[in-house]
Amino acid sequence: MHVGTKRMISNEEFRRAMSHFASGVTVITTRDAAGAPHGITVSAFCSLSVEPPLVLACINKMTGSHYAFIERRAFVVHILGEHQRHVSEQFAEPLLDKFAGMPLQETESGLPVITGALVTLECSLVQNYDGGDHSILVAEVKSSTVNDAKPLIYFRGDYRLIDLGD
Ligand SMILES: Cc1cc2nc3c(=O)[nH]c(=O)nc-3n(C[C@H](O)[C@H](O)[C@H](O)COP(=O)(O)O)c2cc1C
Repeated sequence: MHVGTKRMISNEEFRRAMSHFASGVTVITTRDAAGAPHGITVSAFCSLSVEPPLVLACINKMTGSHYAFIERRAFVVHILGEHQRHVSEQFAEPLLDKFAGMPLQETESGLPVITGALVTLECSLVQNYDGGDHSILVAEVKSSTVNDAKPLIYFRGDYRLIDLGD
């Protein structure tokens, strides 16, 4: 164990350790200033504050969509259900049209919504912090919808299903 400025842990060791933190899976969508839709699979997402209602998401600065979140200053978080593994896979690929074949709607402000998610959160960017090779986006939740479904889980580098015992 080491805490300090000198780097002691390899990328591989770090990734392996962090892969044991089980998480849900989200897809976060927005539009850039020219109106082009963007979306990216994100597991680095969590609730931050109740008053005001804040969430945070960490986006790799190298992704093709990073600039769009900063430009638009608003996005939609989809917490995926177990029936949406293909949605996670599609938005984790550098495809030309990530939205192809997706059931879509729009928010009043024109942001793309993938229908059928476990939870949908419409968010407004409050602050953008530097986080190494990622940006930490802090956003206020403006509205939410919740569906009755089981969550998609990511653990040790693979998708998992949760047994709720029902
Ligand atoms: C399960 C899963 C979780 C991911 N979590 C994140 C994340 O939290 N932040 C991130 O920047 N990329 C994450 N990624 C990687 C991006 O989804 C992927 O690099 C995506 O293709 C980047 O978008 P781009 O094609 O616009 O560059 C994740 C991928 C998977 C499969």
